[in-house]
Amino acid sequence: MIFKDITDDIDAIRTRDPAARSRLEVVLCYPGFHAVVMHRVAQAAWNANLKLLGRFVAHVSRWVTGIEIHPAARIGRRLFIDHGMACVIGETAEIGDYVTLFQGVTLGGTGKERGKRHPTLGNHVVVGAGAKILGGITIGDNVKIGANSVVLKSVAANSTVIGVPGRVIKSQGERLPDATMDQVDLPDPISDRFLALEQELIELRKKVDDRNG
Ligand SMILES: CC(C)(COP(=O)(O)OP(=O)(O)OC[C@H]1O[C@@H](n2cnc3c(N)ncnc32)[C@H](O)[C@@H]1OP(=O)(O)O)[C@@H](O)C(=O)NCCC(=O)NCCS
Repeated sequence: MIFKDITDDIDAIRTRDPAARSRLEVVLCYPGFHAVVMHRVAQAAWNANLKLLGRFVAHVSRWVTGIEIHPAARIGRRLFIDHGMACVIGETAEIGDYVTLFQGVTLGGTGKERGKRHPTLGNHVVVGAGAKILGGITIGDNVKIGANSVVLKSVAANSTVIGVPGRVIKSQGERLPDATMDQVDLPDPISDRFLALEQELIELRKKVDDRNG
């Protein structure tokens, strides 16, 4: 069973990373592979009630790979953590099958919840580099999360999410009509208020001038 899991982990990388030329290269050179294998050991210890040992194995894994996975986090088959440095996967996170995470991804808590406080990812989810998914939310199957997004709300299956805070720009492969990608001419409510006050001042001055003759 463990051998089958490890073979699956290697194949997950070989099929999804064109840079992976052989199984040996994956075994020797992919921190995402090392982190997933060490997570299986950490989780076995955790489930056997050897909590401290589980945490220690996870800590060594983080030290070696730069990827932090809590031993209680549940990960599915064929997870591929590409590059991986600075990934954090929290205690109550759940990850489906065939998921890809790039470097700098956080599956974390908002700091406002207790109990189930980390996200649940469906199958075939891709999370771009630097993206943060926070809270006990659910990300549906086949969702793509853009690099550097911050996702705070659940996302339906087959959607693409980008931005801070994350917003859905595609659903079922179709671009949403009101999805704006304009990051330059964003509305500026403070400037709008200043302009309104300035206009009010001009009108008041005019009224005073008219009254004074
Ligand atoms: C979001 C992503 C998955 C693409 O999804 P998609 O559904 O194919 O979307 P598209 O490429 O059609 O892009 C749709 C729009 O979102 C914009 N967009 C894409 N990714 C974005 C991001 N991360 N942040 C902000 N805007 C983004 C595109 O510019 C495009 O805007 P436009 O239509 O105004 O030109 C991809 O851009 C991404 O971020 N992948 C992560 C890859 C990664 O982290 N690689 C690291 C390798 S080391």
